[in-house]
Amino acid sequence: MHIKGKVVIVTGAAGGIGRALAKRFQDENAAAVVVCDIDAQGIRRVADEIGGLAAVCDVSDFNAVKQVVQDTEKRFGRVDLYCANAGILVKGGLEASDDTWQRVMDINLMAHVHAARACLPGMIARGGGAFLNTVSAAGLLSQIGAVTYTVSKHAALGFAEWLAISHGHQGIQVTVVCPQAVRTTMLDGVADGGVAGLDGVLTPAEVANVAVQALAEKRFLALPHPEVQHYFQHKAADHDRWIKAMQRLRHKFPEG
Ligand SMILES: NC(=O)c1ccc[n+]([C@@H]2O[C@H](COP(=O)([O-])OP(=O)(O)OC[C@H]3O[C@@H](n4cnc5c(N)ncnc54)[C@H](O)[C@@H]3O)[C@@H](O)[C@H]2O)c1
Repeated sequence: MHIKGKVVIVTGAAGGIGRALAKRFQDENAAAVVVCDIDAQGIRRVADEIGGLAAVCDVSDFNAVKQVVQDTEKRFGRVDLYCANAGILVKGGLEASDDTWQRVMDINLMAHVHAARACLPGMIARGGGAFLNTVSAAGLLSQIGAVTYTVSKHAALGFAEWLAISHGHQGIQVTVVCPQAVRTTMLDGVADGGVAGLDGVLTPAEVANVAVQALAEKRFLALPHPEVQHYFQHKAADHDRWIKAMQRLRHKFPEG
C-alpha cells in the first residue's frame, strides 16, 4: 500500500514510533491521519504538530477502538490503514501478577484483535485495506527479562499471520514491524538499549522508513534491524542451538 491519499489511524502516537509513523504518513501526503493515544495532552500536541486529528482512546477497550474507527469512517468515508502500534513493556519474570499479564495482553495483543474486528467489515466491503502492527523482534525471538512482553508479542505475531492468511483474498494486507531497540521512552533507564541494543539503537524515524517501504512492497515482515532475519532463520534451523545461545546471552544480560 502506498500512503498518498490514504486515510490512516495510528495508535500510541503521542510519542516514539507512533508519532514518527504519523509524521511520515503526513509527509507521504496521506488524505488524513488520525492519531490516538491514552495520553490526552500528548496526542493533542502531536496532532497539532503534524496537522492530524487527535483521538483519546484506550486501545485495550474494544468500544473505544470501534468509536475511533466509526468516527473516522463517518468523517472521511473509510479507513485504509490501521496502525496498531500502542504497546507497553513490563519487565520481570514469573512474579508478574495476573493483573499485569491481563494488562499486557490487552494492550499488546487484544488491541490488534479489536482493530481488526472494528475495521474489517468496512475494509472488506470497500475491497481492501491494510494493517500495520508494531510487534517487536521479541515476537520472533524473545525478550530476555520480560516474560509478559515476550509472550504478548509472540501472540501478536501469531494473530497478524492468521489475519493475513485468512483475509488476504479479500484485499487485506498485513505488515508487522519487528524492531530491536528503538530510542523511545520505552528504553528510558536502559543504557544502550540493553540486550536489545546489541545491533544498535534506531531512531523512531528510521523504523517508520522501513515500515513505509514494507507497506509499499506489500511485505508481511518489516525488519528495521536486518540482523533479526538471520537470528530468526537460525532459530528455525536449530531450535536447541538457538535456546543455548539465548541462555548464554541471558547470562551476560540477566536483566535484559
Ligand atoms: N522502543 C523499542 O525499543 C521497541 C522495540 C520493539 C518494539 N517496540 C514497540 O513499539 C511500539 C511503540 O512503542 P514505543 O517504543 O514508541 O514506546 P512509547 O512508550 O514511546 O510509545 C507507546 C505509546 O503507547 C501509548 N499507550 C500505552 N498504552 C495505551 C493504551 N492502552 N491505549 C492507547 N495508547 C496507549 C503510550 O501512551 C505511548 O504514547 C510498542 O508496541 C512497542 O512494544 C518498541
